[in-house]
Amino acid sequence: MSCMLRLAIQKSGRLSEDSLNLIRECGISFVNSSLKLKTESTNFPLEILYLRDDDIPGYVADGVADIGIVGENVLVEEGKQSLTVEKLGFSRCRLSLAVPKTMEYDSIQDLNGKNIATSYPNLLQAYLQEQGVQANIHTISGSVEIAPSIGLAEAICDIVSSGSTLISNGLKEVERVFKSEAALIANEDLSEEKREILDKLLFRVHAVQRARK
Ligand code: PRP
Ligand code: ZN
Ligand code: MG
Repeated sequence: MSCMLRLAIQKSGRLSEDSLNLIRECGISFVNSSLKLKTESTNFPLEILYLRDDDIPGYVADGVADIGIVGENVLVEEGKQSLTVEKLGFSRCRLSLAVPKTMEYDSIQDLNGKNIATSYPNLLQAYLQEQGVQANIHTISGSVEIAPSIGLAEAICDIVSSGSTLISNGLKEVERVFKSEAALIANEDLSEEKREILDKLLFRVHAVQRARK
């Protein structure tokens, strides 16, 4: 079998559809099944792995996947920005602090001594420190938005895109911590063969981006 480039994308979440659309718009065909975790293109030397977004930077750094599409939020949280090849301009979102909509909130100082649930402890800690706020960070891996209603925390810090998850959980956005978009990342020691495939892919990605403008 000839050389293939392994691309990791988010299995299900905000980035999944946008990532698949980019690949399709690049003229790369593949059979997409929601049950399979791996698929091969029928007309380009690309294999697609469907993973949890949080796992993508680590897999690319270790070479389990050669390249990946992931949010800068995950990359920066995990300290792996150096893997970035380029920003992709889609799946824009922000990491924000939110509190129950009934809570009186005047400034970030109101979070002093409070419990904050998040999946982004590093980004949050850096922000709180910069703002001179001391709070207790509770790291949880998902369903962060329900933390206040079950008494786990007074506030949360999570990704906001449309804002509908916050609204359905009775929360209001009070501070923006970090702005993010999708980025293409690559392993730092790709073979020459793989690098050539990546260059071909990037050529197509740039054409798609020009056409979208
Ligand atoms: C984020 C966040 C919410 C959702 C918010 O999840 O955790 O679940 O997006 O979007 P909305 O404002 O449009 O409602 P994400 O897809 O980043 O990944 P995750 O499943 O790893 O949390
Ligand atoms: Zn995730
Ligand atoms: Mg989520």
